[in-house]
Amino acid sequence: MALERTLSIIKPNAVEDGHTGAILQRFEQEGFRVVAMRMAHLTRAQAEGFYAVHKERPFFADLVQFMTRSRVVLIVLEREDAIAHYRKVIGATDPAKAEPGTIRKLYAKSLQENAVHGSDAVETARFEIGWFFPGHDLA
Ligand code: CMP
Repeated sequence: MALERTLSIIKPNAVEDGHTGAILQRFEQEGFRVVAMRMAHLTRAQAEGFYAVHKERPFFADLVQFMTRSRVVLIVLEREDAIAHYRKVIGATDPAKAEPGTIRKLYAKSLQENAVHGSDAVETARFEIGWFFPGHDLA
């Protein structure tokens, strides 16, 4: 297993609902180290660029609107096998399909307001980390 980095975003609904501390604690309990972290109120351009891969999808405009609604927490996490393990900890994109005990099962409100973002592959993680934390993309 390789040492990897992944980008986490604690999304507006989870920050608004006061779950930031619980989510960060869970990441540390799962063996992730926080390499970089900051709060941000994303601009439209930042959210559109970050989710550019989804720009033709019907939910894109709503997603950008949601992600720019209020503050998020941007986090670079490091661990052995970080990308796959993080995805296990957060659960399925749709909280209705997420396993019990996963972050999305616990804190998501809907498919869109699903509490956290996660990178889905090494290349995606590299782009996503570079988007918000230039220079932190390599373990
Ligand atoms: P995320 O992991 O951040 O990646 C893309 C986001 O788009 C996703 O979580 C959801 O917040 C949002 N989204 C809204 N509708 C859909 C959909 N039908 N399929 C996938 N993602 C969706």
